Amino acid sequence: MALLPILCYPDPRLHTVAKPVSAFDLALETLSKDMLETMYDSNGIGLAATQVDVHLRLIVMDTSEEHNEPWVLINPELLEKSEETLIAEEGCLSVPGIFDGVERAQEIRISYLDLQGQRHALHATDLQAVCIQHEMDHLMGRVFVEYLSFLKRSRIKAKFVKAQRQNTRA
Ligand code: NI
Repeated sequence: MALLPILCYPDPRLHTVAKPVSAFDLALETLSKDMLETMYDSNGIGLAATQVDVHLRLIVMDTSEEHNEPWVLINPELLEKSEETLIAEEGCLSVPGIFDGVERAQEIRISYLDLQGQRHALHATDLQAVCIQHEMDHLMGRVFVEYLSFLKRSRIKAKFVKAQRQNTRA
């Protein structure tokens, strides 16, 4: 197992649209394990392959209270979403330290494949639904700060560009 480097906003690679997984092999299993380890290590509840610069439709998540229910979703598809929405405070391992409210569907229905390539259907609500929508956005090259106002987004971008410039100098 290994910790993977996480791309940091506004890295342009975060805007790559991921391709469907077609090979259910050992490499996919290793990548999933490494992504889970990376997610737990950073105290995250979800991580999309896009964030570790692998552009495949693969998400790992754990929204359980005890952080002991690792979950791998491959080629997730949104089947249905509720009209009802909720606004939850979201954060992202690619935008560390930034938290803001985003409006999402409160309930969704998705289908996805597991590591064996078996299809599952799932009905998710609240935190789990928000997390899935956030991670599925990553697979489409979308980062949650893009839902914020232009002014907020510009400030966040400027902050991260400055921090990265200082890091490369150090
Ligand atoms: Ni994220």
